[in-house]
Amino acid sequence: MKHLISAEDISKEQFQEIYELSQQVKKALREDRKKFSVLKGKCIVNLFFEPSTRTRTSFEKAGKFLSADVINISTSTSSVKKGESLIDTLKNLDMMHPDVVVLRHPCEGAPYTVKNYINASIVNAGDGCHQHPTQALLDAVTLTEHLQTLEGKKITIMGDISHSRVARSDAILFRKLGAEVFVYGPSPMMPRFPEAIGVKKLSSFEEVAQISDVVILLRIQLERQSARKVFPSLREYAELFGMNKKRLEMLKPDTVILHPGPFNRGVELNNDVVTSTRSLIFQQVETGLAVRMVVLSLLCGKTEKLKEEIDG
Ligand code: CP
Repeated sequence: MKHLISAEDISKEQFQEIYELSQQVKKALREDRKKFSVLKGKCIVNLFFEPSTRTRTSFEKAGKFLSADVINISTSTSSVKKGESLIDTLKNLDMMHPDVVVLRHPCEGAPYTVKNYINASIVNAGDGCHQHPTQALLDAVTLTEHLQTLEGKKITIMGDISHSRVARSDAILFRKLGAEVFVYGPSPMMPRFPEAIGVKKLSSFEEVAQISDVVILLRIQLERQSARKVFPSLREYAELFGMNKKRLEMLKPDTVILHPGPFNRGVELNNDVVTSTRSLIFQQVETGLAVRMVVLSLLCGKTEKLKEEIDG
């Protein structure tokens, strides 16, 4: 694999390989084994044009745990502020011989364009409302750990689907792994063409509760909507669609909850959900680090070396 830009890039077989290796990596990290020489001599550039806590930090830690040189560039301190274009920024960075560029950008499709101008591998760390493939990977790994398989599982993504790159990437990967994917939320936040990403719309929370093995909550992406169009209001959203104790109790006994983060307590979920034993939200973050270590190794052609080092 040269680039990871879309969940479409991940085959079922590759997912299985990433899943198995991420389990070994997680075990090693839990045993406090945090330094591997797998990417010694390699250089990872984190180039983020939008805010991030989980993705940026976990790619940085992933690179450092694998002994790569990691350079973090934020747009507020780069020459983008002086008017340099995305393509020119990438072409200049590429002359410094990075091996992987992890790119987050507000424009859908930006990673597809820049990959043609550089030699380094590109990881899409989120492009507008389009894709966030490593989030899909870490979500699928978290669920596979919990459920053993996604084959035949019913997964509902609930919230602001139309502006969500996570919803799109999750739906593509989960379906590839055999799950059925549903969406539920306020009409203005539903995808206009759900069939384009292979999901079915549900029309009530009762339906969600009745069928779902997994519910993935999403925040409202206010940064991608004009204030004029935000409907329902946050207060109405919490009341009509927010996950709370009462709605948790309506779910099937084994249904689990995911959220990619950042979450907004009091809007799409409340404290009862965050602290519930059904919540896998913080496990997702731990898994994200291991998955990103595997993804960086994969793009650098070093998964065998990672396995060997872990086996010791
Ligand atoms: N889930 C996710 O992408 O979180 P960050 O925006 O903090 O990276």
